[in-house]
Amino acid sequence: MLFLTLSSWILVLSTVLRTQGVALLTKRATVCNGHAVLCGRPYGNTTFLGSHDSYAFSSDPLALARDQEVDIPTQLGLGVRFLQAEGCLLFDGGTVVDYLTTVKTWLDANPDEVLTLLFTNSDGLSIPDIWAPAFVAAGIDTVSYVPPTNPMTRFDWPTLGDMIDSGKRVVTFMDAGADGTDGAPVDYILPEFTMVWEPPFDATDPSFPCSVDRIAGPLSTEDHLNMLNHNLDIDVFGTGVLVSDPEDASTTNGVASIIANANGCAPLAGGVAPNFVMLDFVNIGAGMQAVDQLNGVVS
Ligand SMILES: *[C@@H]1O[C@H](CO)[C@@H](O)[C@H](O)[C@H]1NC(C)=O
Repeated sequence: MLFLTLSSWILVLSTVLRTQGVALLTKRATVCNGHAVLCGRPYGNTTFLGSHDSYAFSSDPLALARDQEVDIPTQLGLGVRFLQAEGCLLFDGGTVVDYLTTVKTWLDANPDEVLTLLFTNSDGLSIPDIWAPAFVAAGIDTVSYVPPTNPMTRFDWPTLGDMIDSGKRVVTFMDAGADGTDGAPVDYILPEFTMVWEPPFDATDPSFPCSVDRIAGPLSTEDHLNMLNHNLDIDVFGTGVLVSDPEDASTTNGVASIIANANGCAPLAGGVAPNFVMLDFVNIGAGMQAVDQLNGVVS
């Protein structure tokens, strides 16, 4: 009898110690992507500010190919949490490793942030042989989120807090090749269109008429994440050559234009806000203010 009592006490004591030990060891993020309320918000129910052609930055107004005026750390400092880049540009002009290393340096300095990357792979570069080694060299693979099922609906994503606490807080989408067409799939390089749908890109109509332009896979449109291609191009002298124009960026990147575009796409997205609001010239206008409004937070 005495023996049993003693062992029960030991059991209680060890359980208490274990629970307290876990509580002491587990540090939970209290502010996620700048806001306490976002720690409990699922990734699929969050709106992120995005930078179109994040790599193509130049302060030279004569550089027509540029879509951004400020560099990657400055974009991130402005609140950008979705970086889009063209794979072929990166492999030609610099290296993907340099780009990813810049991103990793920022991630290390900002531990309570979830970041999404979107790459285009128009040259069909091998996912396992060319892309994955670049992620490994920069150390991005170790902080990359791998969904338990692929594709996964927008309703099944973990919260930003869970992603930060687990250390897996980078989500990478690839527009082509990650479905097995350019080499064996890599589990943290996700095929974009089976989980994200896009409206038309290179819009020249400032009212951004919305339709589902690119989508793939078995999930319904409403079950996909969605993105606004909220960057306006001009047709140079009617030649059909489309370039982005910083002249109209203050209007295009204003709250009214972004919210109107979000409202225009919402009926196709099950009535919810976009997950990614991708802009040219993120340093102009009020992109972050619009994103805060869509998330229902105040900066
Ligand atoms: C998140 O959920 C709220 C409440 O249903 C909704 O108003 C908002 O549009 C959603 N945002 C996203 C990005 O899903």
